Parts: sequence; structure tokens; C-alpha cells
Amino acid sequence: MAAFPIEVATRIKTLPPYLFAAIDKMKQAAIARGVDIINLGIGDPDLPTPAPIIDSLAKAAKDPKHHQYPSYEGMLAFRKAVAAWYKRRFHVTLDPANEVLTLIGSKEGIGHIHLAFVDSGDTVLVPSPGYPVYPVGTSFSGGVTHIMPLTKANGFLPDLDAIPNDVAKKAKLMWLNSPNNPTSVVMTKEYFKRVVEFARKHAVIVCHDAAYSEIFYDGERPASFMEVDGAKEVGIEFHSLSKTYNMTGWRIGFAVGHKDVLAGLAKVKSNLDSGVFEAVQAAGMTALGLNDSVTDGLRKIYQERRDTFVPGLKKLGLDVDPPPATFYVWVTVPKGYTSTSFTAHLLEHAGIVTTPGNGFGAPGEGYIRMTVCTTKERLAEAVERIKKAGF
Ligand SMILES: Cc1ncc(COP(=O)(O)O)c(C=O)c1O
Repeated sequence: MAAFPIEVATRIKTLPPYLFAAIDKMKQAAIARGVDIINLGIGDPDLPTPAPIIDSLAKAAKDPKHHQYPSYEGMLAFRKAVAAWYKRRFHVTLDPANEVLTLIGSKEGIGHIHLAFVDSGDTVLVPSPGYPVYPVGTSFSGGVTHIMPLTKANGFLPDLDAIPNDVAKKAKLMWLNSPNNPTSVVMTKEYFKRVVEFARKHAVIVCHDAAYSEIFYDGERPASFMEVDGAKEVGIEFHSLSKTYNMTGWRIGFAVGHKDVLAGLAKVKSNLDSGVFEAVQAAGMTALGLNDSVTDGLRKIYQERRDTFVPGLKKLGLDVDPPPATFYVWVTVPKGYTSTSFTAHLLEHAGIVTTPGNGFGAPGEGYIRMTVCTTKERLAEAVERIKKAGF
């Protein structure tokens, strides 16, 4: 029989090579050799979803009224719960009717928004290192990224003054992410004010990704972009229930802000998906209404882990700062290593899976990312193993 040629589209062919594949191969080989792997590579909470959220899903799932197609923009009751949460947490007023949009996890909205606003050849401002969906979403829509490098010298914040005027003029969207994955850096309200000025001056839509806003330490609550004057007139903010409530598998998030920007995203979505299962939205309402003591409890666990792990790494001579937020630890690789070779070294000689910084974009070279999504005891063991392995 003649071969049946399968030719993938250029947009898939031109995706950058999957850097994590080599690490994954080594990880599988180590597991096959019987190595007890400590996985500090993935940003996925190891703790369970709080019980009241699960109970709420179970109850809602039994009600046949939730079994049909949900509305595209999400249940009004869910959007009201989001607005109430924003009021409580950030003192920001949102109209649930048109300033809140439900998402199938924030990744879905982050990927799709490009289709609403980016035409072929349009420029998108993208921080790097950063969440890979920003550049991939750009490329799927035919857009072109302009990289805003995050470096130690600029405090891992996009240098707005370094964006050439002609690029800024052409840009349609600007991605920002605070608290940041992978660097953990938090943007201040003063920084956000400068972003609003920049966006107004150049007519760029700001897309702020706040997926980690509730994973913070030392009581220092990160700000919402929506807290600064004028933000709602220039952009939107993406949020997720994934990290805040240990709900990564549930697939529910939301975007808030400029109603016309949300309407553009909603139009794309209404042609591609059919919303979030209503029972999951009901559980999401329960989550957003939970007492702060629940999230305080989760933060306390992460903070204890951070405070075991980071001083341990420092004691070994690694160059690392305690993260002010997120469950990520951004570590400078020791002399003589690259991101990839240090990741390989830790896996081969200490049985620890980490992520090479350059996997988040070229400016991440020279770093690795570790997570505190495992127990204090395992993190202490990881430090011991690195000590034994040396570097
Ligand atoms: C920076 C950032 N934004 C968004 C997401 C997507 O989260 P979700 O789709 O689970 O809401 C992630 C997930 O890792 C992330 O790291």
C-alpha cells in the first residue's frame, strides 16, 4: 500500500523544539533504573483541593439542571462570585455582566486572545523567560513577538523604556505576568501605573496574567493590575483557580477588565468551545467564597517549604533569593554549567528533576527553575542529595 503522507501545518512545524523532551527522556531512564526521583520540575500543587469545593462539585453534579451546555460567558452567579472576590481581595469594582469572562482554565484564554486581536504580521510584546503560551499563542495567530528580556540587571521586569518607539507603535498586545513564572518577581502598583501610561501612549492592549496572585509570602499581598487608575481602560487580567485552590485538574479560570477586549475573546471562544461544566462553576463559586483561613493555610505550608529549601540551597553555595511569591525558586547555575547541563547534572547525580531556565526563552539561560510542590522532608532531602552530588 502506498504511504499516506501526513504533513503538519507550518504553524506546528515552526514551533521551537520541545526542550523538555530530552530531560523527560533522562527522567524516564532514571526511573527505569530504579532511581527515587524528586520531582521539582512541575508547577502543579501536590496538595488536595479543599473539601468544601469537592463537596460542592458532588452536589452540583447530581442536579440535572447542570448537565446541559453551559452559557458561553459562564454562569452569571459565577461571574458575580468573581466580582465579589475582586472587591474583597483588591477593592476593585467589576460589572459581572460584561467585565468578567469565565475560562476553561486561564491557559485557554491566554492562548485564544491572540486570535481576537492579532492579525498576521502584528507585533506582540512578550516577556522572556516566560509562560510559553504567550509566544505560542502569538505565533498561532500569525503574529510576531517582540521579546522583553527579564534579566537580573532590570530586576526581572520588562524595561518599558527599552522598547523601540516603532515597535511599541506597531504592537497590538503586551503580556505581563506578576507574580512571575519562572522568576517569582512581583510588580508594584507604581510599575503598573507606568504600564498604563505606556499602553495609552502606544494604544497597546495589556494582558496581565495573575495566575499566582494568591501564592505569596510574609503577608505581602501582590497587587492586581486592575487596582491602578486607567487599567480597566487599557487591558484585562487573567486569573486562575488552579494554583489558589489546588484545582489544576478542574479547568476553571477567568478574565476581567475592559469589556470590549473580553467581548473579542468571548467571540473567539463561542466559536471554539462551549464553556465550563456548570457543576465545576458551582464548585468555583464555593472556592471563591471560602474564608481566607483556607488560603492562609496553604500559603503557610508553601512558606515553610520555601524557608527550608532556599536557605539549604544557599548554604551549598548556590546563588538564589527567596521568592516573594509563587511556588518557584529561580536559581543561578554554578560556574561551568549551562541551564541544560546543570539540569542534567542534578538529574543524573542527585535524582532531582528541575526545569532549565532557557526552556522559558533564551534570556532564561544561566538559570534553572525548581518548585516547592513537594513536602518539606523531600525538599530537605533534595538539598542533602545536591550536597552529596556536588557541582
Ligand atoms: C504563568 C501562568 N499562567 C497561566 C497558567 C495556566 O494555568 P491554568 O490554565 O491552570 O489556569 C500557568 C500554569 O502553569 C502559568 O504558569
